[in-house]
Amino acid sequence: MEFLAAIFQQFAEILLPLIKASMISVTCTVLALLAGVLGYFYGPYWGVRKVPGPPAIPFLGHLPLLAKYGPDVFSILAKRYGPIFRFHMGRQPLVIVADPELCREVGIKKFKDIPNRSIPSPIAASPLHQKGLFFTRDSRWSTMRNTILSVYQPSHLAKLVPTMQEVIESATDNLDDKPDFTFSDLSLKLATDVIGQAAFGVNFGLSNSVNKMNNQHDDNEVQQFINQHIYSTTQLKMDLSGSFSIILGLLVPIIQEPFRQILRRIPGTTDWKVDRTNKNLSSRLDGIVEKKMKEKDRGSKDFLSLILSARESNTLSKNIFTSDYVSAVTYEHLLAGSATTSFTLSTIIYLVAGHPEVEKKLLEEIDTFGPHDQMPTPPDLQSKFPYLNQVIKEAMRFYTVSPLVARETLTQVNIGGYNLPKGTWVWLALGVLAKDPKNFPEPEKFKPERFDPNCEEEKRRHPYANIPFGIGPRACIGQKFSLQEIKLSLIHLYRKYVFRHSPQTKTPLQLEYGIVLNFKHGVKVQAIKRSCKP
Ligand code: HEM
Repeated sequence: MEFLAAIFQQFAEILLPLIKASMISVTCTVLALLAGVLGYFYGPYWGVRKVPGPPAIPFLGHLPLLAKYGPDVFSILAKRYGPIFRFHMGRQPLVIVADPELCREVGIKKFKDIPNRSIPSPIAASPLHQKGLFFTRDSRWSTMRNTILSVYQPSHLAKLVPTMQEVIESATDNLDDKPDFTFSDLSLKLATDVIGQAAFGVNFGLSNSVNKMNNQHDDNEVQQFINQHIYSTTQLKMDLSGSFSIILGLLVPIIQEPFRQILRRIPGTTDWKVDRTNKNLSSRLDGIVEKKMKEKDRGSKDFLSLILSARESNTLSKNIFTSDYVSAVTYEHLLAGSATTSFTLSTIIYLVAGHPEVEKKLLEEIDTFGPHDQMPTPPDLQSKFPYLNQVIKEAMRFYTVSPLVARETLTQVNIGGYNLPKGTWVWLALGVLAKDPKNFPEPEKFKPERFDPNCEEEKRRHPYANIPFGIGPRACIGQKFSLQEIKLSLIHLYRKYVFRHSPQTKTPLQLEYGIVLNFKHGVKVQAIKRSCKP
């Protein structure tokens, strides 16, 4: 017995220190892990903790508020916390700037310290979307932007007028055939057709009924392409309704990519579908780019031809515009140019249909311009349609299609009295600015007259209060292009029709957050043919 006790004691003497040591090391590991996890989740918060904001729920941040209030959440928070506040998109804090002067500071005055966009979770999960101008950074961005700018000269835009007009005319034939139709579907097809011609020199023929009947095979091809484009775009959700990898990207970004890599291999998951769709889209785009590259006499009518020609004549842009970047930039045009323009057109039709006094003034201006078959020139569009201009501005204020514009600090920088560390996501809340009663009294009223250059409200207003196309060197490159298209479309539409809300339209319009705003149920209207023909 004594012998056993001695052995046990000896064992205890040897083992206890070992157990103690391993317990210490386990505790240390657990503590280190805990510190790592806390550092990972609270590190980004720590740098911006002094910026005011509501208490954030661990992991989810303020996403539940986004789910509860939708896009209005930022106006609600701006009222409570002032013109600069924190909003946690899951783990990632955003510093939201909701004041025109601070937007000028971020977008223009301190541009060299804040030149890039942060990459949100939906884009981080989508390599197809990352190589366009929108998300490229630093010197690659400025070289790409300068090359692209050179093909956005007014003379080139003027050349696009007949092409745009042709698409608009064929898309809007016989709208009064059906009692009700979803205008937002039609406008998406129209905008995609216009950008298809302008960006690729390709006739998608989505909105052209004659083409549909004559070329069933091509139409299926095109329909597939566009369905894929729409699917790929609408899956880019900014809330918790996106694919699993996007949700992970919002909550635990570090594991987003490994999970996406696994999920995209599991048939049936959203990530698998998105990946398949993006691959298909990429290969179709690569096909279009390759075909264009081989064309000897490709001309200079479309954006892709212009980029390819610039690439061939300039070694620098050849290095920057490798063929994957050419595909991405061209696809980006389709993406940026279709959803935004179509949304804007639909909101204008919807708002004017609900405001007979606006409709009356607009029709008068359009009819006074000249015979209905007289196509307006770009200078006409600039100077002969002042009220149309006001209607567009007011509709874009009322429904700001990009209510948030992303930026990221390159170095430590002071904004609004707060020192923001390098890498802070600073987002400009264009949607909040647009509904601020200081600059827009009675902001919930649709009043194009507030943009009359002679009206006091317009004269008093801060110059950066209404910036639906963004601000500074990174502002929208397609602004003139889309305004030209929107004006031509509206002039043509109101020459032929007036619109009324369909009884099926839910008022006010229900919106959802994608990478830009979108309609939950579409905009349904009735078209009534106008009888008068000047
Ligand atoms: C109603 C129509 C449109 C609206 C409201 C709109 C809005 C915007 C906004 C808010 C930005 C971000 C600006 C910033 O960060 O300051 C942007 C950027 C951009 N837009 Fe548009 N856009 C429209 C149409 C178009 C069209 C038609 C194209 C292409 C043909 C286009 C191409 C781009 C590109 C490439 C960028 C990124 C620019 C850069 O980072 O250098 N957009 N747009």
